[in-house]
Amino acid sequence: MPKFYLTTPIYYPSGKFHIGTAYTTTLADCIKKYKQARGYDTYLLTGMDEHGQKIQQVALNNGKTQQEHVDQMAEEAKKLWELMEIDYDDFIRTTEERHEKKVEEIFDRLMEQGDIYLSEYEGLYCMPCETYFTPTQLVDGKCPDCGREVKKMKEESYFFNMKKYADRLIQFYHDHPDFILPESRKNELFNNFLKPGLEDLCVSRTSFDWGVKVRKDPKHVVYVWLDALTNYITALGYLSEDDSLMKKYWPADLHIVGKDIIRFHGIYWPIFLMALGLELPKQIYAHGFIMMKDGKMSKSKGNVIYPEPLIERYGLDAFKYFLLREMSYSQDGTFTPESFIERFNFDLCNDLGNLLNRTIGMINKYFGGEIKKYPTKVSEIDKELEQFASGTITQVEQYFDTYHISNAISEIWNLVSRTNKYIDETAPWVLYKEEKTEELQSVMYHLVENLRKIAILIKPFMVHTSQKILDQLSIDEQLQTWDSLKDYDKIVDLKVTSKPEVLFARLDMEKEVEEIKRMMK
Ligand code: MSP
Repeated sequence: MPKFYLTTPIYYPSGKFHIGTAYTTTLADCIKKYKQARGYDTYLLTGMDEHGQKIQQVALNNGKTQQEHVDQMAEEAKKLWELMEIDYDDFIRTTEERHEKKVEEIFDRLMEQGDIYLSEYEGLYCMPCETYFTPTQLVDGKCPDCGREVKKMKEESYFFNMKKYADRLIQFYHDHPDFILPESRKNELFNNFLKPGLEDLCVSRTSFDWGVKVRKDPKHVVYVWLDALTNYITALGYLSEDDSLMKKYWPADLHIVGKDIIRFHGIYWPIFLMALGLELPKQIYAHGFIMMKDGKMSKSKGNVIYPEPLIERYGLDAFKYFLLREMSYSQDGTFTPESFIERFNFDLCNDLGNLLNRTIGMINKYFGGEIKKYPTKVSEIDKELEQFASGTITQVEQYFDTYHISNAISEIWNLVSRTNKYIDETAPWVLYKEEKTEELQSVMYHLVENLRKIAILIKPFMVHTSQKILDQLSIDEQLQTWDSLKDYDKIVDLKVTSKPEVLFARLDMEKEVEEIKRMMK
């Protein structure tokens, strides 16, 4: 069985997770479920990035010890992933012993082999991002990542010799053109950071102590990014007695990250791995941001929307559908209450929900709910529909395989629309009136067959809706698998439910928009 190791970033427990942070996990979970359906032995890692000055400060502000604060946040994160049915295989926290011990060892080793050396650092420091910048990297004198004020700081620090590995990394980029996705972000990284030449990276801090201490010089704590990035291997038991997971799953097949942290993953992480003599991950995909009408989500703007109330009111499947559909492969996505309700009403209720209801209603009315077997008489238009569906499957697989999830979903919805149109074109009510039984049987067969395919295709991101469709149509288990998508003539002796259940009930636009606005307050 081929393996597929994928990771989300590990999250900062600095505040409650909004729908933007939930997007990364939703995407990762969808890719995992797709890969599983394709027969991969998958392993999904997520967790929490619990060290650093920012966390120390948040804990202090909340009147808690750092450990109390991160413990509570880890519980909250797990609760959210449970609500979102994120099927992760491990949840690593950087304050766990299994991680801290290995970070100490890694740092020691890099020091011993001369990749990390002691020097002095003077620079412009952005505290929320925990990153130093040179004056030229600033944008309007502020942090290029978050736009906040930077502070002049000087400290004795350990440095990582990035320069030593820069050429090897450049060569790696050339040899692996798909290493960083999408291409636009790879080019940005290459042109803005690699090409001008890398600076050595400051990898320790003395200004605070909430972190992994450098074993041989404990007034220093390890830079949070060096600490955090190694989670992808410490979780697999790197340098441990039992490193069977490491042997099985490393290198990672896919690191999923947001565009704001691609520099750390696309430059520093590969270089750390080179220094450790480990293989580099196969791919890193940096997605865009979920934006609001008035820009980034922020508490001060009062435009933050959290996953829980949306899921509670509209259901998990509608929530995931919206996020994954709205965010394109290489651009940002936008959340507005209007677009959320529109997608719910049009895509889910009108297009998909109605297709199922109309189909079940007609089979009950015309054939007592029964479909016997593949029709004896198949028209041109039926054949054309079969071809359309098989074209959709090929396209959807290609899109899923290259992480173009929003495109995959559009393709599936094209099939939904095409199938709805097929009802209008074949006008089953006329066939019924004219007693063209064989033709009518064929139309009903093809409708069920397409709904079966649609249900299988949406399963990676709409598990419940998928199962509801398959159950209401009483599809045999063997015909619920991804492999069975290539079949088109295997349905026999099927009886649809006589009491169809509405998948998505139409919402009142005005009222619901108000409701979502209230959630944002
Ligand atoms: N702790 C680091 C990651 C270390 S990985 C070794 C971190 N944590 S985070 O909590 O700030 O962000 C977690 C993820 O959420 C990142 O991938 C980030 O890009 C993503 N997002 C944060 N806001 C987002 C949106 N508004 N939209 C989409 N993703 C967003 O970064």
